[in-house]
Amino acid sequence: MALLLLGVLLITSQVFATCPEKVAKSNIDSTRMAGVWHNYKVSSNAPPLKCFHVVVTPGEDGSLGLSQAIYNTTSNSYIQWSNTLTKESPTSSDAKYADGSRNFYILDTDYSNFAVWWYCGPKYSNKDETTEVTWLASRTKSLSSSVEVEANKALPSGEYVLYDQSGCPEHDH
Ligand SMILES: *[C@@H]1O[C@H](CO)[C@@H](O)[C@H](O)[C@H]1NC(C)=O
Repeated sequence: MALLLLGVLLITSQVFATCPEKVAKSNIDSTRMAGVWHNYKVSSNAPPLKCFHVVVTPGEDGSLGLSQAIYNTTSNSYIQWSNTLTKESPTSSDAKYADGSRNFYILDTDYSNFAVWWYCGPKYSNKDETTEVTWLASRTKSLSSSVEVEANKALPSGEYVLYDQSGCPEHDH
């Protein structure tokens, strides 16, 4: 009986997949996240988009405005979109943000070199499926080996692929 119940629970949890609990950086200083971040590498279940970068504009309420851009090599132009991440809980200092039904957590950052982000929510291509993506963002398009060592300590284990940050034209947001 117990096994049957476990089986039913397992099947149910797959159908109504929800995001796992995750520890985010505590005492986040949202204002120090301001500025340009280049996405350096991403968990291999996500596409390694070209010239993917984001300009962060912190709000006074602790929210983070994101202006994101990727380079379209067919049209030779940037595709840009914006979203606003609000704190999951306004009273918490944890770096747990959400954009509607999607979670965006900062797992760790030193503000001046790297940030490890984690995303969980419905897939953009199929809203019935939940996906988790972890990525490393950098203040520079390439990482010095000493920063990469620090950043890798904060990165959950798994397979990552490099974003292509080569030959990216300058882009004004
Ligand atoms: C990239 O540009 C091509 C040509 O203009 C266009 O057909 C395509 O939809 C663009 N890709 C995206 C993801 O917008």
